[in-house]
Amino acid sequence: MRSLLFIPADSEKKLAKGLASGADSLILDLEDSIAPESKQKARDLALAFLASALRKHLRPRLYVRVNGLNSGLTEADLNAVMQAPPDGILLPKTVNGASLQHLGALLAVREAEQDLADGSTKIMAIVTETPAAIFNMGTYAGASHRLEGLTWGAEDLAAALGAETNRDTDGSYTFPFLLARSLTLFAAAAAGVLAIDAVHGNFRDLARLRLECEEAKRDGFTGKMAIHPAQIEIINEIFSPSEESIAKARAIVAAFAAEPHAGVISFEGEMLDVPHLTKARRLLASLRES
Ligand code: COA
Ligand code: MG
Repeated sequence: MRSLLFIPADSEKKLAKGLASGADSLILDLEDSIAPESKQKARDLALAFLASALRKHLRPRLYVRVNGLNSGLTEADLNAVMQAPPDGILLPKTVNGASLQHLGALLAVREAEQDLADGSTKIMAIVTETPAAIFNMGTYAGASHRLEGLTWGAEDLAAALGAETNRDTDGSYTFPFLLARSLTLFAAAAAGVLAIDAVHGNFRDLARLRLECEEAKRDGFTGKMAIHPAQIEIINEIFSPSEESIAKARAIVAAFAAEPHAGVISFEGEMLDVPHLTKARRLLASLRES
């Protein structure tokens, strides 16, 4: 999953546009981009959209961002969208592994009602939106078999901290937000799930978006969320493995296969051992999955 596009679910026009955006996943938003008086309209439109889009042969993965577990709105959100169950639910304001189990229980009831297999609806979680969540990053591993990925965001956290800004004058994140970003990456790797980078809110600044994608890919994130269709092409480009990196991974796997009893080999002037082989195999496995 390289690109995940947020679409405010109360906008029929944006829902239609999202489907043609080229994003690997769409996130129909019922939370922060929807005003309180439009929540029901957004649920109704999300359900109608899901019912039609799920039938398409070639379609993006479909996620719904529900309102957080403390909002009092989560169950009404699920009652609506689970009538045409999406591939997964994006949970905002996640506090710890128990939040995943709480959402999992709500999903299990609705899956049973729809005659779906238990666990068929996946979960992706935003894990940096409250200061308390920062201390619970070790609790996601093993918390839910539904968990597909972890992601982070800097806006709610800035508001909760009372930070004047989350960006330095050169546009890069300040230290508290880089820490949240890094912890998300560690937590996702520890849980064996995807690490997805935060949105870049300034959708006209495509140069900064490209830089953030490159830095995220470098560090181990597998994709990035987006808020505007114009961001999708760059995200897809950067998170697709290059021909060069695929060829190198194949060559590394072949070089180890040629020396089956060697723990370490010499390859194009570099020392390679087990982590290099693991990395090459992971890249090739990701091609088979996409
Ligand atoms: N999904 C689908 N279509 C979108 C879109 C999105 N996220 N964002 C913009 N579009 C559409 C617009 O409707 C517009 O369509 P049109 O050409 O048919 O009029 C076109 O893309 C160009 O949009 P533009 O005029 O550049 O932006 P805007 O001023 O209409 O919208 C935002 C700007 C930020 C309000 C809009 O991008 C948006 O709603 N983003 C998602 C916000 C969100 O979900 N936030 C929560 C997660 S952080
Ligand atoms: Mg938010």
